[in-house]
Amino acid sequence: PRKRLTVPAIRARKGGEPLVMLTAYTVRTAQLLDPHCDMLLVGDSLGQVIYGLPSTVPVTLEMMAAHAAAVVRGSYQSLVVVDMPFGSYEASPEQAFLSAARLMKDSGAAAVKLEGGAAMAPTVRFLTERGIPVMGHVGLTPQAVNLLGGYGARGRSAEEAAKIVGDAQAVAAAGAFSVVIEGVVEPIAIEITRTIACPTIGIGASAECDGQVLVAEDMLGLFERTARFVKRYDDMAGRIGAAAEAYAAEVRTRAFPGAEQVYAPKA
Ligand code: KIV
Ligand code: NA
Repeated sequence: PRKRLTVPAIRARKGGEPLVMLTAYTVRTAQLLDPHCDMLLVGDSLGQVIYGLPSTVPVTLEMMAAHAAAVVRGSYQSLVVVDMPFGSYEASPEQAFLSAARLMKDSGAAAVKLEGGAAMAPTVRFLTERGIPVMGHVGLTPQAVNLLGGYGARGRSAEEAAKIVGDAQAVAAAGAFSVVIEGVVEPIAIEITRTIACPTIGIGASAECDGQVLVAEDMLGLFERTARFVKRYDDMAGRIGAAAEAYAAEVRTRAFPGAEQVYAPKA
C-alpha cells in the first residue's frame, strides 16, 4: 500500500488534480473507500447517519474518537480528518486544543475539521501553531442549524455572500490547510477557490473547487433523506432490502440453511 497522504501533500494539490474525499465512520467502509480517496472524513454527520440523532448538535467527543479510531485502522493511504463536534472547540482556543489533541491521541488521525469563519480564525491559528492541522468549513455549517433555521443554501444575498467569502479567507489566512465549502450559491465557491491559497473542498458548491466531498451513505443510496447536492451512485438501500427479503423468505420456507451451511458429524 501507498504511504498515507500528508497535510503538505494535500496543500500542494491546490489548483491541480481534484482532491477526492468521502466520509467514513466504520472500519469496513474505510477499507472499501480508502483506495479511491485522498482524504477520509470522520464527519459528525454520523450523528444522523448512524445514530439517528436529529442534528449534529448532540454528537460527543467520545463518539468522534471511537469512530475515528476505526477509520484509521481501516485505511492506509487517505489522510484521515476528524470533525470536532459541537461544544468541543468554540469556547476558546485552549478548549479546542485539548479537544483536538484528545481526538488525535485516541484515534491516530492526523487532522481535525471545525466549522466557522472569522470568529474561529484565532482558534485555527492557535491549533496550527501547536502542530494540529485544521480544515475549515464555511457556508452551510450544520452545527449552527439552530441559528440558521435549516439546511438551505447560503449566500443568496450580497451581504451574506461577502460574509462567507470573508470567513473562508479568514480561516485560510489563519493557517487552515484546506477549507470545506458547503451549500452555497456557486459564484461564492468559485470566488473563494480563486482567492485562498489552500485547496477548497466543495459539497453543494462548485466543480471548480479543488476537491469534492460527499457523505458516503448519501452517494451510496443508503440514507433516506438527502440534499439536492447529493448525487446517488448506487441504490444500496434497495439492494439491502432485497437481500433481507430473500433471506426472510428462505428462513420461512426452511430453504436456509442448506446443506452447505450445516456441519455434518465426523464419519
Ligand atoms: O459531517 C460531515 O459529513 C461533513 C461533510 C458533509 C463536509 O462535515
Ligand atoms: Na460535519
